[in-house]
Amino acid sequence: MTLNLNRREWLTGAAATGALLSGASASAQTFMTPNVNPTAENPIRAHFNENVYGQSKIARKAMIDAFDHSHEYAFSAFFELRNIMAELEDIAPEYVGMGAGSTEFLEKAAVFNKVDGGALLTPLPTYGDILRFSKSLNTKIIGVPVGEDMAIDLNAMRAAYTDEVKLIYLCNPNNPCPTIIEKKALREFCIEMSEKATILIDEAYYEYVDNPDFESMISLVKENKNIIVTRTASKIHAFAGIRIGVCFAHPDLIKRMFGLFSNTLNYTAMKGAIASYQDFEYQTFLKQKNQQCLKIVNKMCDDLNLEYVKSNANFTFFNAGRPSKEVQETMKKHHILTGREFKPFTNWVRLSMTKPEEIQHFSNIYRKEFG
Ligand SMILES: Cc1ncc(COP(=O)(O)O)c(C=O)c1O
Repeated sequence: MTLNLNRREWLTGAAATGALLSGASASAQTFMTPNVNPTAENPIRAHFNENVYGQSKIARKAMIDAFDHSHEYAFSAFFELRNIMAELEDIAPEYVGMGAGSTEFLEKAAVFNKVDGGALLTPLPTYGDILRFSKSLNTKIIGVPVGEDMAIDLNAMRAAYTDEVKLIYLCNPNNPCPTIIEKKALREFCIEMSEKATILIDEAYYEYVDNPDFESMISLVKENKNIIVTRTASKIHAFAGIRIGVCFAHPDLIKRMFGLFSNTLNYTAMKGAIASYQDFEYQTFLKQKNQQCLKIVNKMCDDLNLEYVKSNANFTFFNAGRPSKEVQETMKKHHILTGREFKPFTNWVRLSMTKPEEIQHFSNIYRKEFG
């Protein structure tokens, strides 16, 4: 792979990342400092699965530099980012589509499903956007409850399939239950069911997965005309407010979704993403921090005998034994924001992994309030 981060950028970034890893630059970057004295104005944000460390230093610098060119149309940056994404995933650039966050792909898929007169087949609970878009289009939705282990139940989805279904949504890892679908079973399901419907696999949390049973389905896209894999820079890359999403699909599907080119993307965001996707050290740092956070919260659950789903993402889901709304209200008084209620698991709390020190602070307060 010959990714083209220039030497000056790389050296700046490598030095910065080295400093981050050693903690030496923590005081120089407010976004590195943990928020252990949260206030109403500056709460601990454990509710939206964001990366509260912010973007990598290299990406931030690239975006600041890019601003000088932000009056120009962004064609070259589009093709540069597209080539990088293709190279990273070992796929031809024609298979790559890009948008302002992955929400754009979910929306487009819902619209095309409506145009084709199809129903949507989806697990429940799952990430809600494609359902929301489909509902607003009056699309028929066939929801299939997750299994007792809270994993997506592919056999139940097969059984629920009807001829009306033209779009199948699978979120892997899922959200709010951070489970994965076992790779062999998923591959078989995709090969079989893509004969009948388009399958969209939402891999928003892909970068955080550390599980040998997980596999991205991008490899299938190369051989299959009916599979879309979506990714986002909103999570590990911390671009939730900057907006970059990437999807992978057969060129026919990419053309259908975008024509030749999506012009919703802005130059600054793309320049940031070009740098961020090549900053592997920062991603390693964030994954380590995520694992540290999960360890703290898992220990809390073990100590308090609370059931939880083994997380494959940057959030956890645990059974508080009381309404998650009560937990949310209590923690809010301590200026800690936790996830909203997710039906039907109304006693389960979704907690985003922020920084180990903040999750320790959450755990200390949770133990005092509910332990
Ligand atoms: C599973 C999943 N897919 C997609 C999204 C939307 O992300 P984006 O910011 O890329 O639109 C989210 C956001 O939380 C998510 O959890």
